[in-house]
Amino acid sequence: MDQAQQLRNIIKRSEQIPMNVARVITVTSGKGGVGKSNVSINLAVQLKKLSKRVIIFDADFGLANIEVMFGAVPKHNLSDLIYQGKNIKEIITMGPMDIGFISGGSGIAGLSNLGRDYINYLVQNLSELDSLADVIIIDTGAGISDAVIEFLVASGEVLLVTTPEPTSITDSYSLLKALNRHPRFNREMTLIKVISNKVSGAEEGQQLFNKLNAVVSRYLKLPIRYLGHVPEDPQLVKAIMQQTPISIANPNAKSSMAFEALAMALTGGDPIAAYHKHGMAGFFANMVRGKKFV
Ligand SMILES: Nc1ncnc2c1ncn2[C@@H]1O[C@H](COP(=O)(O)OP(=O)(O)O)[C@@H](O)[C@H]1O
Ligand SMILES: [Mg+2]
Repeated sequence: MDQAQQLRNIIKRSEQIPMNVARVITVTSGKGGVGKSNVSINLAVQLKKLSKRVIIFDADFGLANIEVMFGAVPKHNLSDLIYQGKNIKEIITMGPMDIGFISGGSGIAGLSNLGRDYINYLVQNLSELDSLADVIIIDTGAGISDAVIEFLVASGEVLLVTTPEPTSITDSYSLLKALNRHPRFNREMTLIKVISNKVSGAEEGQQLFNKLNAVVSRYLKLPIRYLGHVPEDPQLVKAIMQQTPISIANPNAKSSMAFEALAMALTGGDPIAAYHKHGMAGFFANMVRGKKFV
């Protein structure tokens, strides 16, 4: 069996096995600095408290956010798996509360140029994550770059973080517009959930969503849902300085409680279990699908 055939088999298998695969949640935003990494890390902590096994995949190759926020230095990153023959377990760094994270490093930037042998090897290895985690949170870079859009297209579940700043709302809209016109974007199979961050409270959070939803449903006819809000919280900023997620540093802070509510909302059951279809193997298979060797 040649390698292209092997890859096709992996993709086929990932489509046939609906359960026992990790739920892949991709956290994104139109604009940088709106709180994606904080959302990723605190949702990880809160999901862990709900007894989920969680791995964070840091796909923001420009800024190594997760490791700084966890105060943990990874020995290896995705590039070492691709080019140095490391296996998936060797590139997982353990953060607090046994939350694993994988640093994308420069490996993310090179993904689109990988040859088929490398892709095959990568997909086989990443599919192992399905047995190591219940939830995989992918923290993407900001903005409407091709790499970010590829990640979103491959995801069954997207968390879009937005803030009340006018530029954040317009950039969120632009991101959804770019996603919506991508030829491989499957709107029926993708859940898009919005988190309003840095708001004064529940009311402003809901209003922010309503504003975004008004333009998105009118001009893109794309269904998006509201997941909830995180208040602007000075304690969260303090926790970042201490390199400890606020949900660990101060579980009673108002932002920690908001993250807890978001984790509950996420695990509360969804009518469309799109995310269960693919797992991590399917996620990367989606990313490389459409390339000539698949
Ligand atoms: N809920 C919040 N309350 C107060 N400040 C926040 C909140 N969320 C984010 N921030 C601030 O925004 C900065 C950027 O957050 P970060 O998660 O790194 O954004 P991104 O990953 O989207 O670039 C943080 O360093 C923090 O100062
Ligand atoms: Mg970040």
